[in-house]
Amino acid sequence: MGTLDLRAYSAPLAPHVVRLPELADAAIATWRGRMINEHGSSRVFEGLAAQMREAGFPEGEIDEVREFAREERMHGVLCGAVVEALGGEARADIADGDPYPAHDDAETRTEAVLRNVLSICCLSETVAVSLIGAERIEMPEGELRTLLTRIYADEVGHSRFGWRLVARLAPTLDAATRERLGDYLEVAFAHLEQHELAHLPLASEPPPEGAVYGLCSGRDARDLFFDTVTQVIVPGLEAHGIPAGRAWAQRHEGADAAAE
Ligand SMILES: [Fe+2]
Ligand SMILES: [Fe+2]
Repeated sequence: MGTLDLRAYSAPLAPHVVRLPELADAAIATWRGRMINEHGSSRVFEGLAAQMREAGFPEGEIDEVREFAREERMHGVLCGAVVEALGGEARADIADGDPYPAHDDAETRTEAVLRNVLSICCLSETVAVSLIGAERIEMPEGELRTLLTRIYADEVGHSRFGWRLVARLAPTLDAATRERLGDYLEVAFAHLEQHELAHLPLASEPPPEGAVYGLCSGRDARDLFFDTVTQVIVPGLEAHGIPAGRAWAQRHEGADAAAE
């Protein structure tokens, strides 16, 4: 356990928000959760940059990923700024994150990098683009929407980076490598589903005015999550010859096997 304390960075950036006292606690909890998540994403991109360097990826691509890490740190500060604006504190206890997955069982370093790029950019960041995009459409004009737009634009970049990298490398992969990536995706999809559903509780049904704080229906967000996986991510990966449809269908078996 540790403490993430972004108050000194976040407080000066607090956006102007309308006052809806009955929704403030729910909004503070939501944005504090995001602050933790976003900050954690910066460590993930630092890990990816280091792994890509080890694997001999082009310097320009590594620089992009390091920039993503910086953007995620800023997203953490911005989400903390919303917490401060709502009357909360941009501070939280955080668990020690999982170690960055090295995937030493992959046949090549490039394959190990690809697994993480699939999981981070093609899955998590693509889902983030959908969920944040929907939330942004619902949100009225104002400083909070401007803040969310800034985060959204960066998440689009994080997602597209992964899809570009997969498009570049997929034609170089042999059939066995594609199969192994499909096997890996079973585990990655299971983790993605578990993580997203934990953050989108069905019990969350805020009133319509919650849209000014970015509070949305857990049920609608879950529907959008599943649509994003089945209509965007799975066909997108299949188009590159990666058996993502099979992986999604078998994700629960994959997770059970990994837990044994
Ligand atoms: Fe982010
Ligand atoms: Fe991101």
